[in-house]
Amino acid sequence: MSLIYSLKKNKQGVTHVIGDYLGEMRPFAKRVKNPLLVAPMVLLKTIEWSIYRWYKTPIRRFYGVKGNELIYMITNACNDRCPKCGIWERPEPRDQHLMITHFIKCLNRLHHNLYQVTLTGGEPLLFKKDVMLIAEEAKKLDVPMVIVSNARFLDEEFLTRYKELGHILVISVDSVEREKWNEFRGKKNFDIVMPKIMLAKQILGDQLRIQSVLSKESAEEIPKVIEWCKQQGIQHNTQFNQDFGGHWNNHETTEKVNYDNDTPCAARKNICVYPNGDVVKCFDHRRIPLAKQPLGNIGKQDIIEILSTKRSTEISKIMKTCNLPCKNMSCNKPQTLLFN
Ligand SMILES: C[S@@+](CC[C@H](N)C(=O)[O-])C[C@H]1O[C@@H](n2cnc3c(N)ncnc32)[C@H](O)[C@@H]1O
Ligand code: SF4
Ligand code: SF4
Repeated sequence: MSLIYSLKKNKQGVTHVIGDYLGEMRPFAKRVKNPLLVAPMVLLKTIEWSIYRWYKTPIRRFYGVKGNELIYMITNACNDRCPKCGIWERPEPRDQHLMITHFIKCLNRLHHNLYQVTLTGGEPLLFKKDVMLIAEEAKKLDVPMVIVSNARFLDEEFLTRYKELGHILVISVDSVEREKWNEFRGKKNFDIVMPKIMLAKQILGDQLRIQSVLSKESAEEIPKVIEWCKQQGIQHNTQFNQDFGGHWNNHETTEKVNYDNDTPCAARKNICVYPNGDVVKCFDHRRIPLAKQPLGNIGKQDIIEILSTKRSTEISKIMKTCNLPCKNMSCNKPQTLLFN
């Protein structure tokens, strides 16, 4: 692995230390739900920060207790053909698909650090058995789980067990009208998938969420989706259109980062795994020169070893001040800002 590591970047002045402190405390304070607990929790976190500021091992310094999200893009393959998304055009060859045992091991190694494990793709439910294995393991390890899905392969048995496990399902919906739906999915499956969403609502209740992508193409549809979600009592989140290799045009708001620039991108606390087991810090890592190469591969190395490298630590530091449009992606935002 080539490590382009600059020693100069490690020399830190007072401004850097203050920036480092605020970068850690602001998102932490936002995660504390009870306002009365904010001050004492920040005080305790400050003590922890001070200790690890001067005495630190990378894994403890950057990967605090329940401080991270593990995001697994379980496959690139998909049963839909959404024009906004180009992921489905590059399914991984069978022999490059990570064996599920490697991911389960990774989850076990990291679970003390995780506030959430998220499964996305491609379409995760193409690997429904593996998804359920992860859901069961996450429950055992007390890690909340989120699946982002197009809902095509949902069924009663899966939903019933998923409900019992207490995890969250996010279904992607960009229109609630048949014609637009079929256009946006690249497959005429409105009449198959809509009843599955209603079944998911019936079984999962408030463990179901809906997410839409806002672009010029979908701008007229999204308010209707939001209204429909309100009527159904389903929490909704809008994600701005990004470059997923698809063909939708950016909405004018896409390039604006819609919260203060001082808040570090929450993605710096993410650990992302590609379908072949490669590990990166955010799925937009190619925008950061030092992060272009994956940090390692969980099929070949232990995840803690991967995350403890000098380069991984250095990339986390760079990500604190990274302020690109991808900061707006749902998976790269503090969880407190999502879904209403
Ligand atoms: C890539 S999909 C994978 C999971 C699943 N196949 C689905 O569609 O929900 C994950 C999320 O990214 C969203 N997405 C797809 N293309 C996008 C784009 N160009 N910009 C932003 N989000 C996008 C999807 O709508 C979905 O909510
Ligand atoms: S957005 Fe999801 S459902 Fe649509 S093609 Fe991409 S991966 Fe498949
Ligand atoms: S702004 Fe984008 S590239 Fe930078 S850390 Fe966040 S997700 Fe990664």
